[in-house]
Amino acid sequence: MSNMLTIVKTTNPKSKPPQNQLGFGKHFSDHMFIMDFDLENGWHSPRIVPYAPIQLDPAAMTLHYSQTVFEGLKAYRTEDGRILLFRPEQNLERLNQSNTRISIPPIPEKDVLEYLKQLIATDHDWVPAAEGTSLYIRPFIIATEPNLRVSPANTYKFLIILSPVGSYYPEGIHPVGIHIEEEYTRAVRGGTGTAKTGGNYSASYKAQEKASAHGQSQVLWLDGVEKKYIEEVGSMNVFFKINGEIVTPALNGSILPGITRKSIIEMLHDWGMPVAERRISIDELCQAYKENTLEEAFGTGTAAVISPIGEFAYNGEQMIINERKTGGLSKKLYDTLTGIQTGKLNDPYGWTIE
Ligand code: COI
Repeated sequence: MSNMLTIVKTTNPKSKPPQNQLGFGKHFSDHMFIMDFDLENGWHSPRIVPYAPIQLDPAAMTLHYSQTVFEGLKAYRTEDGRILLFRPEQNLERLNQSNTRISIPPIPEKDVLEYLKQLIATDHDWVPAAEGTSLYIRPFIIATEPNLRVSPANTYKFLIILSPVGSYYPEGIHPVGIHIEEEYTRAVRGGTGTAKTGGNYSASYKAQEKASAHGQSQVLWLDGVEKKYIEEVGSMNVFFKINGEIVTPALNGSILPGITRKSIIEMLHDWGMPVAERRISIDELCQAYKENTLEEAFGTGTAAVISPIGEFAYNGEQMIINERKTGGLSKKLYDTLTGIQTGKLNDPYGWTIE
């Protein structure tokens, strides 16, 4: 079995969507990456091939017991036409952490980074250049063994697909309303909340339906045991600025370790701003609101980068944050992070690679 990357180029390139109508995750580039795993050969046969449907046995284990993990990262076009990746080694490291949790064999991170660079080089003209656009990269692994037993599969496929995207939320970087979810839970300690695995996301839809029914865009997730402590917002990590201090829930075993979250904490430290990773209860948040010390709130993630929170309701009381305007810190973080990602700003941290 070969471990040499092979490339088969499409003879039928697609036409590209207009850059002002990309949306999120709707369009896919001309090529994709695939490699296979079996017990005898490990991960093998890395290849770049034309983007196309894949064949799966109806008994493929991923379809039945959700043995699957994924990642999300972006490639950005600089003003002078180069392409930058943002901390891709962090995503591959996290993919392997997710693999460990879901009992999927680890991928060779260094090799995969090279394959990813080759895939982007192959589809370089799919990296959009318009303001606010990027190429969203979706690596994922599925258990392919056809078998209905409940235990880890013996065969897997690892794929990477590429999607030119605009902003994740149609609102862009405008503050959204959040619904505080007290019935459904995203994750519990000891569960799969720290892993990027599909089931965590489909399990959130029911609460999202409730948020929409309440006229809110996103769900604020509370811990699954006491329903008291704040965990995440939508599919993002969450930050609050209270009385000058920036607070984000500590990684307690049920929260996804976001790479945007980590980057923001590192930037805030660098800026000399007080930032605490600790437990924060919904009562503390309401109290801060009442005392007028809740200055800003925002979600952070690869897809939306920064998503300010403009309002929330709890115990029948509506609370409006910063007059529903994007706060100064949210804006500064968004501008700095996207500036580094797109090469508009100098990258003092060495986070981007060409
Ligand atoms: C992100 O914020 O990057 C997410 O995790 C959302 C993604 C699953 C679309």
